Amino acid sequence: MFGNGDELPSNRSANPHIQDVINAGRRKVLTSGAAVGALAFLGGLPAITNAAAPATDRGLPFQRRTRLPFGAVSITRADTVTVPSGFSATAFIPWGTPICGSYPAYLEDASNSAEDQAQQTGMHHDGMHFFPMDAKFKGRKSDHGLLALNHEYIDVPLLHRNGATVVNGKRVDADEVRKEINAHGVSIVEIRRNARGEWAVLPSARNRRITGASPMRIEGPARGHDLMKTRYSPSGTSARGTLNNCANGYTPWGTYLTCEENWAGYFASRDSELPRHLRRYGLPSTSRYGWETIPGDEFQRFDATATAEDFRADYRNEPNTFGWIVEIDPFDPDSTPVKRTALGRFAHEGLVFAPVKPGWPVVCYSGDDSQNEYIYKYVSRDRYRPLRSDGQLLDDGTLYVARFNPDGSGDWLPLDIENADFQQACAAANVEFANQGEVLINTRLAADIVGATKMDRPEWGAVHPDTGEVYFTLTNNSSRRDTDAANPRAPNPYGHIIRWREEGRSHTGVRFQWDLYLLAGPQNDSRDPRGKPLTEENILASPDGLWFDNDGRLWIQTDMSGSQLSDGPFGNNQMLVSDPRTGETKRFLVGPQGAEVTGITATPDFRTLFVNIQHPGEGSTSTEYTSTWPDGAGRRPRSATVIISRDDGGRVI
Ligand code: FEO
Ligand code: CA
Ligand code: CA
Ligand code: CA
Repeated sequence: MFGNGDELPSNRSANPHIQDVINAGRRKVLTSGAAVGALAFLGGLPAITNAAAPATDRGLPFQRRTRLPFGAVSITRADTVTVPSGFSATAFIPWGTPICGSYPAYLEDASNSAEDQAQQTGMHHDGMHFFPMDAKFKGRKSDHGLLALNHEYIDVPLLHRNGATVVNGKRVDADEVRKEINAHGVSIVEIRRNARGEWAVLPSARNRRITGASPMRIEGPARGHDLMKTRYSPSGTSARGTLNNCANGYTPWGTYLTCEENWAGYFASRDSELPRHLRRYGLPSTSRYGWETIPGDEFQRFDATATAEDFRADYRNEPNTFGWIVEIDPFDPDSTPVKRTALGRFAHEGLVFAPVKPGWPVVCYSGDDSQNEYIYKYVSRDRYRPLRSDGQLLDDGTLYVARFNPDGSGDWLPLDIENADFQQACAAANVEFANQGEVLINTRLAADIVGATKMDRPEWGAVHPDTGEVYFTLTNNSSRRDTDAANPRAPNPYGHIIRWREEGRSHTGVRFQWDLYLLAGPQNDSRDPRGKPLTEENILASPDGLWFDNDGRLWIQTDMSGSQLSDGPFGNNQMLVSDPRTGETKRFLVGPQGAEVTGITATPDFRTLFVNIQHPGEGSTSTEYTSTWPDGAGRRPRSATVIISRDDGGRVI
């Protein structure tokens, strides 16, 4: 009871699964007698770039160059962060680091109060971005900036001195629950590097904690909608807190985006029939942490049962105020975070922007991380104007969902109540939406109706800085059906990476070409970008975090859990680097025991790389620790950022 875990699948639509699409493509190729090998791996799809093709750079054949100048780290189960020789990795701002207010010291027995926790970094670091102090102008400052990071969820046994106090299945200690709410959200931390290259937290008025209880504004088409109205905000224009902030994004105008992922499990509804806007998100009858079992408005809001006559007098609509992308101005500590509803409501993993062009709309991509859910794209109505555009660009635009066709083409299907195709799809499905706000609150249902492709749990996306190709991790899917004997990957326990190129290289368009970049897995069940099996240097499973450095190298982070971690051939979770130009892929880092490696950002000079280590010692109790990273023997494991640099002080790679 009151544990963690991913949300249960809730997509019951009849849309084809991505694996069906791949298999359909493969069958086509095989029956037409095409060669097996790389093509079979690609399901016969036209590769959008050929990684193995000879290419030149400054006149040198690529085969003789490597853009991964480090020795691959071996698989290990060591309870530490392992990086290649010549590099160092230092833990930084672990859970409980005082950053604001009265700067309350972290107490090793976890006896800090809820109030303390609201002035310290939260638990379970995840998505993160470094904003140079001059981010709003040139953005080149590499020794001084704001680090914005998510705190995805909590390990209750470790958060409190003796774990949670539960009596007859109910939470009884209000301060305990408040501490849990305050350990969620986002931290903004001003940091500076000294002459010796060491980073430190500055006592700064900009340092800030945003928690599961911080007031937020609602903007975009769902603002003021009846389904957003609650006892807290009868006008449906504000909400309290952000939760389960997984991956992140950042805007071209210098703000941070935090993404609400597995939020449904924070709520409970005892209603026998759930309305579609709760049912399609799998809202449970008992919540993950039991917050709603304590009296008082601040906790009762997690009870989504319809109890009053009027929906403005209870919290049946409270879950509708979650599942959004939240924009935060890290440079203005007094600013109110804004939930941008035009970007859709689902289990947002993250949000990644296509490169911006002045005078063009902005385009961003987001995955819905649950089994058999979808990938989305947003195109703003208004055009980007450097130094003048702001978050309003995210309030008016078109949300699309992806359909991956068997022939390697793809379509972006608009979820727009004004669009004739969408109206037709709604009529055919016998589904009605009163307005665009209602479409967005029911994003998953809208995507079902237009025939989006069910994916193997879309996680992070990343856009290649030069080619504009978009890469997405599909972490795994235990519910994939066994459809093809030639395909050893059903179900898909290891995951893969998909990529696409927008037609005409225009991110605002509605057609794209796709292929698979990598199939994760052990040596005998995987394919690298060149179509060969993965090796000792790069086997991985459950890819999750994804990021391009400025030189177009793809950094891949893994989130294996359970038996994959304990019994698999992969060791602890890891981070690899892959060069799409050559297909070369090498393991760069291995995390401590029980931890996920997630969240990545760098200084503009690329001499400092920041990576997060989440939930080391997962499964620990308040007295028995399965990891003691980063503090050492006998001490509670803590999520933390890791600062990675080269010992010679140069660029990381
Ligand atoms: Fe929170 Fe999809 O990882
Ligand atoms: Ca995570
Ligand atoms: Ca993730
Ligand atoms: Ca994951």
